[in-house]
Amino acid sequence: MGFGRGKVILLGEHAVVHGYPAIAVGIERGVVAEASPADEDLLKLSPWNVDVRPDPTGEPLERAFAVALSAYSERPPIEVRAQVDLPAGAGLGCSAAIGVAVFHAVDEALGLERSREELAAAAYGWEEIFHGNPSGVDNTMSALGGVALFRKGEPLQSLRSNKPLHLVIGYSGQSPSTQEMVSSVARQLESDPVRVNKAFEAIDVLVRNAKLAIEAGDHVALGQLLDLNHAILSSLMLCTTKLDAMCQAARNAGALGAKMTGGGGGGCMIALATKHDEALRICEALGESAFVAEVSA
Ligand code: MEV
Repeated sequence: MGFGRGKVILLGEHAVVHGYPAIAVGIERGVVAEASPADEDLLKLSPWNVDVRPDPTGEPLERAFAVALSAYSERPPIEVRAQVDLPAGAGLGCSAAIGVAVFHAVDEALGLERSREELAAAAYGWEEIFHGNPSGVDNTMSALGGVALFRKGEPLQSLRSNKPLHLVIGYSGQSPSTQEMVSSVARQLESDPVRVNKAFEAIDVLVRNAKLAIEAGDHVALGQLLDLNHAILSSLMLCTTKLDAMCQAARNAGALGAKMTGGGGGGCMIALATKHDEALRICEALGESAFVAEVSA
């Protein structure tokens, strides 16, 4: 069974595209996939009821599937059945999770073995089709999981702590294109490099402090860093009224901190809770789309 995790960026999204570090976690919700020899190459995606045939000039999923299959020489036609348990376009790394699960499932069906790192690298090409210029954080966290500091082009640095993170993830119901949000930041960087570089540098400082806070188990400090990161992402015009309201609702319900996560412009927000019961209370305040993710570093 192939599995690709969803991911949540704790801090550092967008800056990570421009070479700064980010801290991300792999969550247990994601995509499972199974593959077997068949009459034709086919990717079946549930619960969307979507059948995808590989086409190098087609829609993104068709192109991505074509690129993935072209990596395997000497193979029979193959059918992949993937079950997606993540909202699409919500900043939880859905496209990367599908890519990782598909490669993993096809590897298994063909009796091939590769490391999780190799799986992450294979899924980068898949991500490029969806996001143009991805940092690589989504496919890497999807394949490797855990809590880690990621910087483009460098080995993933796992973070260790004796305290689990009690996260609440809330979906705004809006699914913007990550590629458009990344392009919007790139345009701002080009037209106002001083302001945007200052924002990236400030995020960099937050990420470094967050690493220390996670390692020390200081979740009060981590919560404050999440709030500050949200404010900087707002200044880059990535937050929406809905995301702001959800973050505020989470703080009012007792969260130690809250922020948008991923591409922004909609998508998801995260909140940090002191413990499991508190996370459930925050979840209730955010409504039925919210769920709890407990992550051990
Ligand atoms: C998307 O989940 C995170 C971004 O930083 C884009 C990327 O890292 O490729 C917005």
